[in-house]
Amino acid sequence: MTQPIPFERPIEAIPEPTAAEVPLGPTGRPMPVFAEPAALTSHGGARVVSMCNQKGGVGKTTTTINLGASLAELGRKVLLVDFDPQGSLSVGLGLNPHEIDLTIYNLLMDREVTLDEVVVPSGIAGMDLLPSNIDLSAAEVQLVHEVAREQTLQRVLAPALEHYDVILIDCQPSLGLLTVNALTASDGVIVPLECEYFALRGVALLKTTIDKVRERLNPKLEIDGVLGTMFDGRTLHSREVMERLVSAWGDTVFHTVIRRTVKFSDATVAGEPITAYASSSTGADAYRMLAREVLTRWPAE
Ligand SMILES: Nc1ncnc2c1ncn2[C@@H]1O[C@H](COP(=O)(O)OP(=O)(O)OP(=O)(O)O)[C@@H](O)[C@H]1O
Ligand SMILES: [Mg+2]
Repeated sequence: MTQPIPFERPIEAIPEPTAAEVPLGPTGRPMPVFAEPAALTSHGGARVVSMCNQKGGVGKTTTTINLGASLAELGRKVLLVDFDPQGSLSVGLGLNPHEIDLTIYNLLMDREVTLDEVVVPSGIAGMDLLPSNIDLSAAEVQLVHEVAREQTLQRVLAPALEHYDVILIDCQPSLGLLTVNALTASDGVIVPLECEYFALRGVALLKTTIDKVRERLNPKLEIDGVLGTMFDGRTLHSREVMERLVSAWGDTVFHTVIRRTVKFSDATVAGEPITAYASSSTGADAYRMLAREVLTRWPAE
């Protein structure tokens, strides 16, 4: 019989961590560790994802910019689509809305205009932008008279699919024709929700809209996840909202939660993603973690 080496600890003597010792994340669930995703050897076959919530100011634009920048850091080729006439995504990346010649509006309404003419660099390596400004508000009305009016964005984005790995669409706070176009063009939806009591109001209507688009226009549409934003861990209130979210939506709720910090507004003023403006901040790290988490949810690239 072989004798155990004296300093070697028998395996069964190492205790399993008890449930109480597993660290719980802000969602009240055990916090997984998301591994660094493998590098891509080629690009294309983009997954198209809309940031959607008809409630204003919940973090759609902030999530589009910073999830996009974090995916670009992971070597993904990213195209951001500003699909809001407010143009906040374009402004948040340092563009002056009045100085943009061609926008997504021209691409939607004029068949002569090509994607290459409208795409601009975002200032972040590996990430481009289709900008927007107030002109886009006219498209909502004009598109009503178009044939296949719900598929217009899908048609104009089609040539981009082979060049990018991810296309993120920043929707406006409404469930009108522009948002229906975004959902029709998408494989997935991410729903940012502010961690406050009325966050769940209106979510049922959003869910109905997503279901209708899936039934009538786009059978592949999936909800990729619900993201808690502006979380304040010091308040019981924020934690309760996250608990309610998880009990209503289960594992659809991302483990990653974005905390409230003024750094996001500062980054917008600077015209940069937080991952560039304050690279080592908790806000930047949260979006980097979200990037890893979404990559575990999306089908293998
Ligand atoms: N985690 C956060 N902590 C603090 N402030 C934030 C956070 N996320 C976003 N903000 C700020 O809140 C405001 C609204 O955010 P954002 O523009 O991303 O929301 P939105 O859903 O795109 O709004 P809209 O519906 O008007 O398009 C911005 O000033 C932004 O800088
Ligand atoms: Mg916005």
